[in-house]
Amino acid sequence: MRFNGTMRINSKNHLEIGGVDTVELAREFGTPLYVVDEACFRDNCRQYREAFAGGGDVVYAGKTMLVKAICRLVEEEDLSLDVASGGELACALAAGFPPSRVYFHGNNKTPGEIRLGVESGVGRFMVDNLYELELLEKTAAQMNVRQGIILRITPGIEAHTHEYIKTGQIDSKFGLPIETGQAMDGIEKALACPHLVLKGIHCHIGSQVFELECFEHTVQIMMAFLDQVYRRTRHVLEELDLGGGLGIYYAEGDDPPAITRLAEVIISTVHEAAETKDLPVPRILVEPGRSIGGPAGTTLYTVGAVKEIPGVRTYVAVDGGMNDNPRLALYGARYEAILANRAGETAGAVVAVAGNCCESGDMLIHEAELPSPRPGDILAISATGAYNFSMSMNYNRFPRSAMVLVVDGRADVIVRRETYADVLDRDLVPARLWQEELLKKAVR
Ligand code: LLP
Repeated sequence: MRFNGTMRINSKNHLEIGGVDTVELAREFGTPLYVVDEACFRDNCRQYREAFAGGGDVVYAGKTMLVKAICRLVEEEDLSLDVASGGELACALAAGFPPSRVYFHGNNKTPGEIRLGVESGVGRFMVDNLYELELLEKTAAQMNVRQGIILRITPGIEAHTHEYIKTGQIDSKFGLPIETGQAMDGIEKALACPHLVLKGIHCHIGSQVFELECFEHTVQIMMAFLDQVYRRTRHVLEELDLGGGLGIYYAEGDDPPAITRLAEVIISTVHEAAETKDLPVPRILVEPGRSIGGPAGTTLYTVGAVKEIPGVRTYVAVDGGMNDNPRLALYGARYEAILANRAGETAGAVVAVAGNCCESGDMLIHEAELPSPRPGDILAISATGAYNFSMSMNYNRFPRSAMVLVVDGRADVIVRRETYADVLDRDLVPARLWQEELLKKAVR
């Protein structure tokens, strides 16, 4: 397994993160446990901020992993925040994140979400479609405010990544396509809305992207569109938001470019295009998620049943699975692992790491190289900071995992573990289904 951030092996041969022994973490807080390496998270934020310093903004994509403590880190690191729903917005507001630095995404915001966004004073609405544009104009008019917006458009780029996570191609539920003329129509309509201030355009071409040419090509298309907008409307759009998408290392074979390289390519391509088209250089916005949160996360599990099927495979079952990390089940994602309590031992076996849900597809790693795992071992899977907690679920009514933030030898719980009571809390039984004697028997 490749070590990220502050990971190291300590004198007890245990995996340590943020100066904390992960075996101790598992003992104290139980498993499965999401561990977030604060220094690594902050360092990734800083790399982005420095790489895009001067005339741009780095917007952390909250869908990656958003809890109140993470909002605090994002604000302290001086990044802005992309929220993709009313729930993510509520999280940001509850954490005291400045609304003016919030970018409100979503391809089908409800009237309630639109109202919440306008009322709370979000900096930008990322308008996805004409229906939203109309609703937003009406809402802003009712509240008598002028709302800053950015129009999401589809540049027609296909990022070379897993099919399910492409979002920039023309056949997409997101944004208005350039090719069909709908993007230009959206621009004209937006400019005609008296309560909306059109600041710029946005696109997002996909996620876990390694090819910098994809970004370069996207910038060229977007700059050409800015140029068309200027020629047609005489309006200079100030902001160019290129979305997120930079890939990270999960497993052997992954070779992501550095954040600084991404920034160089984007910035130089924007500048070249601005010069040739004689346009002012727009403010460049990027919305990284995975490449900030992903490497900062590790999940700890306890090994339970180890089942060897002779000549076939050894299944090592752990106490979590697709409920805390559905990415293998959804995308065939690959991960690497280590035994946290035997971190110095050489890997002698190839085993399949299975989850605990009633579903054959509930696997975490198909082929993990490990020293033969035994019941009670602590298994650590790296690079789980992105799209794990945020996509977690309660299949089979398993309670969801806790999350701890580790730094300089200390560990703080930032999401407490769900209890059975939490899991059952929203269940209601109509009175007609209860009988007196059942009420007495019910375990609470
Ligand atoms: N901006 C927008 C508008 C997005 O839709 C996304 C991700 C991002 C930024 C952040 O992209 P990143 O830097 O993280 O690649 N659940 C999938 C990933 C879905 C990505 C959705 N949008 C996964 O687990 O791979």
